[in-house]
Amino acid sequence: MHHEFDILTLFPEMVEGFFASSMLGRGQRNGLIDIRTHQLRDWTTDKHNKTDELPYGGGAGMVMKPEPIFAAVEQLRQPASKVVYMAPDGVPLTSQLARELVQEPHLIILSGHYEGVDQRVRDELVDLEVSIGDYVLTNGTLAAAVMIDCVSRFIPGFLGDEKSLTEESFMSTLLGFPQYTRPADFRGLRVPEVLLSGDHAAIAKWRHEQQIEKTRRLRPDLLDK
Ligand code: ADE
Repeated sequence: MHHEFDILTLFPEMVEGFFASSMLGRGQRNGLIDIRTHQLRDWTTDKHNKTDELPYGGGAGMVMKPEPIFAAVEQLRQPASKVVYMAPDGVPLTSQLARELVQEPHLIILSGHYEGVDQRVRDELVDLEVSIGDYVLTNGTLAAAVMIDCVSRFIPGFLGDEKSLTEESFMSTLLGFPQYTRPADFRGLRVPEVLLSGDHAAIAKWRHEQQIEKTRRLRPDLLDK
């Protein structure tokens, strides 16, 4: 399946370099994914290209106007599209959600700014609202980039080495183990002997113990699951 992402934002330049780089860049060159960023302002029709207004009922900040967002989504929408709105009050992005979203052939991702978008956009256009964590960013563009990165890793063939995904789901309830590479002695700091032993069972046991210890120390909540 081919995966398409259309991002609607007031700041496409924030993420264009990110999408052109590394694995996402390679995924696009390989034809596995298509990521298109769009300047929402291009869908304004007034002479000041206004995308936001004061909130009805008063209060701080500005609210994004519905007209350009409706026009953009109506133009980009395909029969199988899902519209995702990035917002701090959305459902949390998890590996589980990313595995569900990778089933979608086309995501239109809306990045909010200011105090968010007019509620009619959320009610009428948006299929799913996603948060990347319990903190507030100045706008949702980085959040959209994070979600696309996370979803793309689950596309078959995207990582090249599918083993990393299998290992990840296998160990999904524990934090990772320490990794080392050459040299074996760096300024007197030595790589743990077991990793140099060639004893695969001993290495697996050591890594598992390291994971349990780190999870207990930093994320005891994961051990309760
Ligand atoms: N926009 C602002 N903060 C956000 C967050 N935490 N997740 C998703 N979109 C956001």
